[in-house]
Amino acid sequence: MTGPTRNAKPHPQPVRREHWSGRLAFVLAATGSAVGLGNIWKFPYITGVNGGGWFVLIYLICVATVALPIMVAEIMLGRATQRSPVLAFRKLAGPRSPWQGIGWLGVAAAFVILSYYSVVAGWTLHYSWLALSQGFAGMQPAEVEALFGQVYADPGINLFWHGLFMLLTIAIVAAGVNAGVERWSRILMPLLFLMILALVLRAAGTDGFGPALDFVFGAHSDRLTPAGVLEALGHSFFTLSLGMGAMLTYGSYLRARDDVVTTSLAVGGLDTLISLMACMMIFPIIFVAGLTPAAGPGLVFVSLPIAFGQLPGGALWAAVFFVLLAVAALTSAISLLEVAVSHAIDWRGVSRRRAAIGIGAVIFVLGIPSALSGGTPLFGSDFAAATEALFGEGHGKNWFDLADYLASNWMLPLGGLGIAVFVAWRMGEHAREQAFRAGSRFARLYWGWVWLLRYIVPVGVVAVFLHALGII
Ligand code: TRP
Repeated sequence: MTGPTRNAKPHPQPVRREHWSGRLAFVLAATGSAVGLGNIWKFPYITGVNGGGWFVLIYLICVATVALPIMVAEIMLGRATQRSPVLAFRKLAGPRSPWQGIGWLGVAAAFVILSYYSVVAGWTLHYSWLALSQGFAGMQPAEVEALFGQVYADPGINLFWHGLFMLLTIAIVAAGVNAGVERWSRILMPLLFLMILALVLRAAGTDGFGPALDFVFGAHSDRLTPAGVLEALGHSFFTLSLGMGAMLTYGSYLRARDDVVTTSLAVGGLDTLISLMACMMIFPIIFVAGLTPAAGPGLVFVSLPIAFGQLPGGALWAAVFFVLLAVAALTSAISLLEVAVSHAIDWRGVSRRRAAIGIGAVIFVLGIPSALSGGTPLFGSDFAAATEALFGEGHGKNWFDLADYLASNWMLPLGGLGIAVFVAWRMGEHAREQAFRAGSRFARLYWGWVWLLRYIVPVGVVAVFLHALGII
């Protein structure tokens, strides 16, 4: 995809849209967007913090009843309009319509999310390098834990890898969707899947597997709070790249006859499978080593080095694993940057290259406070103290945590709510039904889908919002 040329007029009419080379390419790219740090870094760590059990169950319910219907709606809007988010709503609702605000909210969310996502991705790069340069062999669990603390607190390390990761993301997005996005998704994602599978199988032979199964799937709710329910909902959006127009943008590169429903089910199923497998890879190690599952954002960076440290050739395996994780993060980061870039192309007619470089640079700068949150009081402890005064006791967050919290728990569900309400209540019956049925092997699910979007999604999202605010 090369996008409109440099001198294209600043007119909301994209010159010519390139398309995925086929449906498989789209499925792979959408899966590449969905599967990322959200599955392997974030889901296990928030499961740990929220005590497992009920948190996981609520998350699964959110995926099935709220996130999946929205995924269908988003991809469908993109495919039907062939536009990036803001212009998609403009095309359907009119040039003055406030519905365009959903698109703008999405573009804003792309900036916020990628700014800290890139910092975490930087950790995965740093850990590959650590694995090769020093290895983790012979390290005690407490030492591995301390190592993450050092990395987290080191401004230089965080800035360097954050910058490098943003450069990689910019380079791929500048190259365009076909040349850039598709090629990466094909070989490396299946490899990561195989490696996770191998690590789960290995964990199945340890004493930690039973306790881990009970922790993740057992019926206990001791640590679940209203904020935890909001987090489960927010994460169902985050992990499926929903609520901000990423799937809409990818859908806009689809041809009219490509099937949306089957794709959504496949992406949702695979994504959930990988998240649960990530838990079953990580928690057994945590329990065997006697560490706490509620360790927070360092969980995957503490558990895996312990496991790799005990394997023959572990340093190499660790390096390969963290590189593959970085690649998974890259295919997700690409979709985040792509939202803002395709918006700039469609909206202003800037060239793809310029948009990628300019927007990427802004996001790099926005991410600097996140990169410094672990080691600089200004964005770390002092910042947390200030937000504590704002949000109430025990709810203080450093810059990094605040960016994640606001984007995933509020912006994404709000955007998703807007998309659902738009499609279910505002879009004309005829247009909606046509868009849904086009190319679909699941045309008979139409009414169930509309019903979920009309009632379950709005009531569910609003109820969780009110619950988190302490109103119900
Ligand atoms: N889904 C990705 C993950 O789980 C992150 C991501 C990529 C994302 N694109 C997105 C999240 C768009 C929200 C919106 O790691």
